[in-house]
Amino acid sequence: MGGVIDLGQYGTAFAEDPFPVYAELRERGPVHRVRLPGPDPWECWLVVGYDEARAALADPRFAKDVRKLGGPGFDEQMMGRHVLVSDPPEHTRLRSLVTRAFTARRIQTLAPRVQRVTDDLLDAMLPRGRADLVESFAYPLPITVICELLGVPDLDRDAFRTMSTEVVTPTAGDSHFTAMRQMAAYLDELIEDKRSSAPGDDLLSDLIRTRAEDGDRLSRTELRGMAFILLVAGHETTVNLLTNGVYGLLTHPEQLAALRADMSLMDGAVEEMLRYEGPVETATFRFAAEPVELGGRLIGRGEGVLVGLDSANRDGARYSEPDRFDIRRAPQGHLAFGHGLHFCLGAPLARLEARTALRSLLERCPHLTLDGPPGPRVPGMLMRGFRALPIRW
Ligand code: HEM
Repeated sequence: MGGVIDLGQYGTAFAEDPFPVYAELRERGPVHRVRLPGPDPWECWLVVGYDEARAALADPRFAKDVRKLGGPGFDEQMMGRHVLVSDPPEHTRLRSLVTRAFTARRIQTLAPRVQRVTDDLLDAMLPRGRADLVESFAYPLPITVICELLGVPDLDRDAFRTMSTEVVTPTAGDSHFTAMRQMAAYLDELIEDKRSSAPGDDLLSDLIRTRAEDGDRLSRTELRGMAFILLVAGHETTVNLLTNGVYGLLTHPEQLAALRADMSLMDGAVEEMLRYEGPVETATFRFAAEPVELGGRLIGRGEGVLVGLDSANRDGARYSEPDRFDIRRAPQGHLAFGHGLHFCLGAPLARLEARTALRSLLERCPHLTLDGPPGPRVPGMLMRGFRALPIRW
């Protein structure tokens, strides 16, 4: 206990496989003061225990809106105001504008469309015999679905992908800020085009028309923020769920065989993929709005907190044999979609996409295997995934 743990000391091994480090940290305690790895060695708190992670995510004393603490609020000028940088009542108002579009029932109506997009991608990919799963399947599927839902079918996918990747998994300070600025400009343009064209029955048209409960329109920065969070959260994460999920199955042949023998295990298998190696390694930053005691440590006002979702999901106090990938385990209560007020809005959509995509991929590729080692890991501690995953069938 005490002291600052320098995560940089673990070198590239930490990015490659952080789980042994998380296990070591959990042994020492559920909450630690850490220095983050990377070019900008910032100090913050890292929550690694399951109970403490769940408690932190539900604790209103951990705020998302840094302006309350006199923070720079630079996000607003860049990405606009959105649900992940706001607290109630602002958060309640913004989230209420989109909850209806993402309920499990509404999302279920998209099932035929998700199946269709899946089938089209597999039709294009299968004749080739081998492919990069990320490029050919895991990336295009969720981005196509979210673009259709929002009503932006003409999104420049390549340009958007480059910006989005740099925003979410930054490689260096400068290129990160450049990407943020480019994306903000791109989104403003997208919204302007939409505003001036005939309104449709898609989500972005709805939001442009919307008057919030209290009667005021979504401001320009709120609209940009909403487009940003839905487009980026709507695909960066799901790409990694599909990729980590396929990798998990292909490196655990007995689990793959069990699933192939009984596809009714699919829903549970997707939950286990989320628990075992969830796409969001740590939740987005929270800040203590007042001093908070957590896991025996005192977190001072204004200090930053990262909640380690992937670490919490491997806590042996919550899951027996946590490092075992077991599609039959039914890992209720995993934190891969977060918890509390900011619980993932898109969870029903992500689940629908993953179940549909994985079932079709396995059914149509009875001899699916890895085609060499996976590509590099995505950098940083926010996301867990691969840049590429060579497969053949
Ligand atoms: C496997 C896929 C996904 C995973 C693992 C995931 C994970 C998460 C997590 C952990 C959070 C909470 C972050 C925090 O508290 O700091 C979150 C929030 C959010 N997610 Fe997802 N997500 C996924 C897919 C999606 C999709 C498809 C959408 C689609 C539209 C989406 C939209 C959002 C939004 C809007 C929030 C913010 C909610 C709020 O602040 O109230 N996510 N997600």
